[in-house]
Amino acid sequence: MKFLQIYIINLLVSVCLATSINGKFRFSLGNLTKNAIRRTSFDLHQIGNYSTKVPYKDSTRLLDLEGNFKFDNLPINEGVNESTYFVLTSSSLDYNLAPNRILIEFISLENGTLQMKGYRNIFGREYFPSKDIIHPDKLDQISVEPYVVVSVIQKAPFRAYFQVRNSGMLNDGIVGSILGSRWKLAGVITVICVFAFPMFLDKIDPDAALLLKEEALKKKREQYAQ
Ligand SMILES: *[C@@H]1O[C@H](CO)[C@@H](O)[C@H](O)[C@H]1NC(C)=O
Ligand SMILES: *[C@@H]1O[C@H](CO)[C@@H](O)[C@H](O)[C@H]1NC(C)=O
Ligand SMILES: *[C@@H]1O[C@H](CO)[C@@H](O)[C@H](O)[C@H]1NC(C)=O
Ligand SMILES: *[C@@H]1O[C@H](CO)[C@@H](O)[C@H](O)[C@H]1NC(C)=O
Repeated sequence: MKFLQIYIINLLVSVCLATSINGKFRFSLGNLTKNAIRRTSFDLHQIGNYSTKVPYKDSTRLLDLEGNFKFDNLPINEGVNESTYFVLTSSSLDYNLAPNRILIEFISLENGTLQMKGYRNIFGREYFPSKDIIHPDKLDQISVEPYVVVSVIQKAPFRAYFQVRNSGMLNDGIVGSILGSRWKLAGVITVICVFAFPMFLDKIDPDAALLLKEEALKKKREQYAQ
C-alpha cells in the first residue's frame, strides 16, 4: 500500500511538475531591436533515450525585450536516476552568441525531485561526449538557475551575408578564376587580340595583312631552321 502511495505521489509530481527550461538572452550591445529579436531563435532537441514516439524538438524566439525565452512541457524519462538530455542551440543573423550549444541534463532523483544541469559545448567539438565512451571529456558545467544564459559576443560580420553560393559557371572553375584575376583577364584579351588582329586587318587593308602574314611565316621558318 505504501509503495502504491509513493508511486502515485511520484506520478503526480512528475505530471504536475511542468518541466521547462527558462532561458535568458543577455544582450550587452545597447538595446535589443525588433529585427534582432525576429532573427534570433533557439532550438531544443532531445538526445539519448526518449519515452515519447519521437524525440522532442521545438524552436522558440525571444518572448520580450528583456531577452526571456522558454521551453515548456518537456518529456522526461520516467524512473529513479533516469536522465533525459536536451541540446539547446541558439542562432542569430545579427550576432555571434555563446555558448551556442548547451547540453541540458535532467535526472529524476529518488526523492522525486528533478535535477537540472547545464553544460556548454567545448568550442570546435561537434558532439557532447557520451557516457558510453570509455574516456569521456569532462563537461564544462554552467548555471541553469534561475535561467540558462546565452550571451552576445559580438555583432556578426556583415560580409557573411554577401557570400554567393551556387552562382554557376561564371564564378567557379577556370572561367571564374580568369574573370577573378585582372592579370589573367588581360592575358586572355591580349591573346584574343593577337589572333583577331590579322583577320581584322584582312578586311580593311588586304595588302598589309598579307605582309604581316608573310612576316609571321618567315619568323616561323627561322625558328624551325635553328
Ligand atoms: C535604449 O532604450 C532606452 C529606453 O527605451 C533609451 O533611453 C536609451 O537611449 C536606448 N539606448 C540606446 C543605445 O539606444
Ligand atoms: C538508455 O536506456 C538504457 C536502458 O534503460 C540505459 O542502459 C542507458 O544507459 C540509457 N542511456 C542514456 C544516455 O541515458
Ligand atoms: C540512484 O542513485 C543513488 C545515488 O547514486 C543511489 O544511491 C541509488 O541506489 C540509485 N537508485 C536506483 C533505484 O538506482
Ligand atoms: C532531493 O534530493 C536532492 C539531492 O539529494 C536534494 O537537493 C533535494 O532538496 C531533495 N528534495 C526533496 C524535496 O527532498
